[in-house]
Amino acid sequence: MHCTRKITQDITWIGSQDRRLALFESAYAVPRGVTYNSYLISDLKTCVVDTVDASQQKQFLENLEYALDGRGLDFLLVQHMEPDHSASIEAVLAKYPAARLVCTQKTLDLITQFFGYAPGGNIKLIAEGAVLELGAHKLTFVAAPMVHWPEVIVSYDLNFNLLFSADAFGTFGAGDGAVFADEVRFMETHLAEARRYYTNIVGKYGAPVTALLEKAARLPISMILPLHGFVWRQDIGEIFEKYQKWASYTPEDDGVVIAYASVYGGTENACNILAARLREKGTDVRVYDVAVTPAPEILAEGFRAKKLVFAAPTIDGGLFPQMEALLRKLAEHGLKNRVAAFIENGTWGPVAVKKMREITEKLGWEEVGAITLKSSVTEENLGGLTELAEKLA
Ligand code: FEO
Repeated sequence: MHCTRKITQDITWIGSQDRRLALFESAYAVPRGVTYNSYLISDLKTCVVDTVDASQQKQFLENLEYALDGRGLDFLLVQHMEPDHSASIEAVLAKYPAARLVCTQKTLDLITQFFGYAPGGNIKLIAEGAVLELGAHKLTFVAAPMVHWPEVIVSYDLNFNLLFSADAFGTFGAGDGAVFADEVRFMETHLAEARRYYTNIVGKYGAPVTALLEKAARLPISMILPLHGFVWRQDIGEIFEKYQKWASYTPEDDGVVIAYASVYGGTENACNILAARLREKGTDVRVYDVAVTPAPEILAEGFRAKKLVFAAPTIDGGLFPQMEALLRKLAEHGLKNRVAAFIENGTWGPVAVKKMREITEKLGWEEVGAITLKSSVTEENLGGLTELAEKLA
């Protein structure tokens, strides 16, 4: 049965809410699910903006048929060709053969590359600056390459100031029936999931995101309609500000994140002592065991906090594997503008600090301390941890 929401009088959300998916992109846990947003604009012409994942196709087609209310479909606009939004293109065009596919040449190439078929001749190719006239709604297109795929465009409604933002401004979470951010007190309930979504999916591409934000900042925007998560119709500046910080690798707060690995408890003990000293100084600190907490969650915390501490034992003359994976992820995402400290442990030949520095040196972090443990925390180490807490606080 159809399940839709009205966005405005003539725009309907026709997407779907997926709570069965365990790992988004086979990599990121989505315990609260994820939405695939699709929108139907019903003007003099009708236009679908993007489709949904293959697993949600039946629901989506029911939603589309209901929202069309007996009308035909004139246009299918594809802003982003990644399969979580494009896997239902063929099904839509099969059901509505008179519909014109609206996309860039790059998108057209990727459709064939991914799905092994070439859409028929009823295609309207667009590029940045083109205008699609639907009646009162007039969509113009802005290229957003590498946010986070090369073919991405976003669409701006010239008369209603609506920004269809593709993956930008998305979040994990299936929405619990809500479609607007203001229905869920977003900043309290979903900010962490939005950060985890952004930092892992898009976070590597800070420069292209900043370029897109600069273009968007010059436009009046009354509503942001992304492909995941919630539609923004209030407090748009709040999420815009978060994006500006994430894209420029600017910390959101002055807190400390301690990420550690510990084989027999000595390194963990040091991190707990450091966290206690920091709390005594009134500093916000979050502590994560990298063998327990997935790297994507700690990456998101790294984008939030200004100060990062990494603590790891030496294993087989190298670095604890999960710590190495985390640091490489931070380095790949270009997480700069941070204050950092390192703690290593080695019963006979500690090299972990050297290894951690090698991975992160290109990020230009300001290092404020490094401590070496030999198996367990000594009185001398206690002094070093207290001193490190003072520097970090
Ligand atoms: Fe939600 Fe980049 O696809």
